[in-house]
Amino acid sequence: MLHAVRADRNCAPDIGGGESTDRPGCSRGAARVPDRDPRVRQEGVPRTRRARVRRSSRVSTTPPPDVPSPVDLRTTSDARAWEASAAQRPGRDEMLDRITEEAARLTAPGDRILELGSDPGFLARRILERLPGVQYTALDFSPAMHELARARLQEWSQRVRFLERSFRSAGWSDELGPFELVVTNQAVHELRHKRYAPELHRQVLGVLARGGSYLVSDHFSDPGGKDDTELYMTRAEQQRALQDAGFASVERLAVAGTLVLHRARRA
Ligand SMILES: C[S@@+](CC[C@H](N)C(=O)[O-])C[C@H]1O[C@@H](n2cnc3c(N)ncnc32)[C@H](O)[C@@H]1O
Repeated sequence: MLHAVRADRNCAPDIGGGESTDRPGCSRGAARVPDRDPRVRQEGVPRTRRARVRRSSRVSTTPPPDVPSPVDLRTTSDARAWEASAAQRPGRDEMLDRITEEAARLTAPGDRILELGSDPGFLARRILERLPGVQYTALDFSPAMHELARARLQEWSQRVRFLERSFRSAGWSDELGPFELVVTNQAVHELRHKRYAPELHRQVLGVLARGGSYLVSDHFSDPGGKDDTELYMTRAEQQRALQDAGFASVERLAVAGTLVLHRARRA
């Protein structure tokens, strides 16, 4: 006989996160494990200890906890601090240039682009400047980031839509799309655990037009990269997460600093 063990410890709110039960994976809170065989007697073990032994002998499939964020980017002070420090981060400028180059190659006038974790509009500015014919949707859960982005992108305001949504919420992609291109830089790890990445990528696949592309750059945890292997994926894990999500082709395009860029295509 099988019975269910609740595993929803990770659905509690985290530091800096705004949502709780809508986290990817929370709906998958129940795991099935074999019951003990009632015919096996625990001779000589007192009743209360027996209960403890029974509990500890269950196979736990509880996933590791989410990694708390040291900052809350939804606040004006933390958003401003990020804006001020961003330019000094190694590899960032190079990566933003590379994403812009690829975006130019992959899109045509009239195309629609979605950015996940659009921050104060650094990547959006480059793309809107370079591609005068595209429409841009900037998605971020931080009203403070959007405020900074509105100021930075004023010149292109006719072509930008700001969307305040969390890509950790189950329904973030509802009624969105289709887009010819989805881009994201240094934001996938904001899921706060790498196990959520395939689900995020599946949702991206769902908002892409046929033949559309996904340019995804994030920190890697290979040697020379970031140390936290719960938060950050190796380059191979990033590639696999995109493949597991159902993308037809996945290619590694560039490495800059501790960031790696992949392009994934919808068939
Ligand atoms: C580390 S910053 C990097 C941003 C930007 N793409 C860049 O390269 O400069 C992460 C961005 O993702 C946003 N973010 C974090 N968690 C998010 C979530 N759950 N949903 C939407 N945006 C989120 C933050 O507000 C911030 O703008």
